Amino acid sequence: MIFSLTEEQLAVQEAAREFAQNELKPGVIERDRDMIFPKEQVQKMGELGLLGMMVAPEYGGSGMDSLSYVLAMEEISKIDNSCSVVMSVNNSLVCWGIETYGTEEQKQKYLPKLASGEWIGSFCLSEPEAGSDATSQRTTAIDKGDHYVLNGTKNWITNGGTSSLHLVIAQTDADKGHHGINVLIVETSWDGVEIGAKEDKLGIRSSDTHTIMYNDVIVPKENRIGEDGFGFKFAMKTLAGGRIGIASQALGIAAGAYELALAYSKEREAFGKAISRHQAIAFKLADMATEIEAARLLVYRSAWLKDQKLSYDTASSMAKLFASEVAMRHTVEAVQIHGGYGFVKEYHVERLMRDAKITQIYEGTSEVQRIVISRSILKGQLYIPVYGGEQLEV
Ligand code: CAA
Repeated sequence: MIFSLTEEQLAVQEAAREFAQNELKPGVIERDRDMIFPKEQVQKMGELGLLGMMVAPEYGGSGMDSLSYVLAMEEISKIDNSCSVVMSVNNSLVCWGIETYGTEEQKQKYLPKLASGEWIGSFCLSEPEAGSDATSQRTTAIDKGDHYVLNGTKNWITNGGTSSLHLVIAQTDADKGHHGINVLIVETSWDGVEIGAKEDKLGIRSSDTHTIMYNDVIVPKENRIGEDGFGFKFAMKTLAGGRIGIASQALGIAAGAYELALAYSKEREAFGKAISRHQAIAFKLADMATEIEAARLLVYRSAWLKDQKLSYDTASSMAKLFASEVAMRHTVEAVQIHGGYGFVKEYHVERLMRDAKITQIYEGTSEVQRIVISRSILKGQLYIPVYGGEQLEV
């Protein structure tokens, strides 16, 4: 086992860290307070190649591996999770989905725009009655020969107010259950795409999350991804990779809170010495460092499996489950270490604590990750894909 990063991966990590400190940190508190979408910052992320990190250079991307993407996500997420969720959805759900399963025409038409940040994408699966139970799609895409007619409502759509492209999961043939679901590329400028209300959220408050309505939207057949009925499998396969992105976001939140708590505890004195010298605080720091490192290993390993083209579905669920629980637990501890200062916005940790919560919910709740992991255990598959190197079926 080799745990070291390459020169290129270290350079990506360093560049992302500097970008987050210099470009994202200024104004992050105000953007969060006022729910201001980080338009300029996202544009700069596009210019730096952070929005199409794994997209091949021939389609305008950076052509990097998943581990580099995770390293960059971790650094951005230490500072601004409204930016890192844009990055995660655009990279691992939208770009990856189109590049892996799209036609050559779809890739050429859409990937350069998405990878450069000229367009931002959204992944439209969740519905008022289809969150964890994602097969219960009510949105319909009725087959009319050379096009589909799309109708329905999607909820909690990340980038919903700013995206130019939606990947919409919809039911074409209800009799076929999840085998009758399709995934369509929808341009938001098309007639009938209606952007609903913006959500006022607990965390990641400057990312824009909206309800979206589709009213008789005409979608050409060439905008379907994959064979007829591939939509649900597409969603599951894409989300398996998306969960690596959210796991790295959770890791960054936990690591960011830990770094703040460590620095504060070395400066703040009580009872005649730095609070880090009191065992009550030192043991908290020890637990944080240990669990964050364990989360990091799970997250990096799931990215490594993906890069090796080995099966990573269970590994990504384990990484997301553990990293998001660590993020929640240790951001609470980081606030506690800061005492009264932790409860005010100026010190950043309360924001990270609020941001941590969503990582236990989106792209599959912790309960959904436990479904995926336990089914894998019960099928006797767990250790085969993780350590034996089971070849990935794309
Ligand atoms: N790869 C390929 N196929 C898969 C798969 C995978 N990882 N997981 C499931 N499937 C296939 C199954 O093989 C099955 O197909 P067949 O019938 O042909 O065998 C089909 O999908 C249905 O699978 P299940 O019977 O396991 O389905 P289920 O109803 O029991 O649900 C579930 C499984 C894991 C709970 C799934 O519904 C799920 O992941 N739910 C959570 C959805 C989710 O993550 N939503 C997030 C919204 S997107 C978002 O948050 C983005 C954002 O903006 C931040």
